[in-house]
Amino acid sequence: MTGEMSPIDKAKYASARRAADYVEDGMKIGLGTGSTAALMVKRLGERVREEGLKIQGVPTSSTTAELARSEGISVITLDEARWLDLTIDGADEFDANLNLIKGGGGAHLQEKIVATASDQMIVIADAAKAVETLGAFPLPVEVLQFGGLTTAALIEETLVGLDVLGREVVQRMHGDAPFVTDEGNHILDLHLKRIGDARQLSLVLNQIPGVVENGLFIDICDTVVIGHGDGKVEIRDINTGTITEETGENAESENLFSDI
Ligand code: 5RP
Repeated sequence: MTGEMSPIDKAKYASARRAADYVEDGMKIGLGTGSTAALMVKRLGERVREEGLKIQGVPTSSTTAELARSEGISVITLDEARWLDLTIDGADEFDANLNLIKGGGGAHLQEKIVATASDQMIVIADAAKAVETLGAFPLPVEVLQFGGLTTAALIEETLVGLDVLGREVVQRMHGDAPFVTDEGNHILDLHLKRIGDARQLSLVLNQIPGVVENGLFIDICDTVVIGHGDGKVEIRDINTGTITEETGENAESENLFSDI
């Protein structure tokens, strides 16, 4: 299996595995969505089976819920949990202030609700997700199906007055039909190229009727665990201002990747 893994996959795995170490007995954990988060859920499943780790997980999508259950993780709803110790999730981009673009997988609405209801959010990502300025990755905006084209037009008009480089608004598709989220909404991907003021953009977008939630996560993420293809990880914590580099105990022998 190791031979088939790309450096990006190895980086995702290194970051997911390291972040799973933050999880302790008795914790209620927000379980993110996406390929990196899936690796983290699998690692937690391993810890549940091998160490008897006792956790309750709140998934951020139907896909993650299914995976968590199949891994033997006890799954509860956010309303059953009410508040979480920690959420671990992937991201499409993160900047130096650990502000994020999320929603590449179309799950940012539940992801934002869950992360906001957590003491701590840890993002797991490969190094390619680090950016100086957010916006190269198209910004996902979840919108109601009702009047979706009108909402798209309103967003386009609103972008004219904002500090962004591009203004193309594209309906996300799934084959020939519009992509539908777990909440039954549509997604518009905003090709902005560069977002000058992410906080302002997030506030303005969420004021538009028909917009349910945008994929900007401002002041929500506490820590990012950045994985590298050789198994090394870099941990950046916005609260302490620390940056820690770890080799990973098995990274050099490549054993780190032998169990996937
Ligand atoms: C899903 C997300 C994902 O966390 C984001 O798209 C990153 O995914 P991946 O780990 O597959 O690169 O926000 O809505």
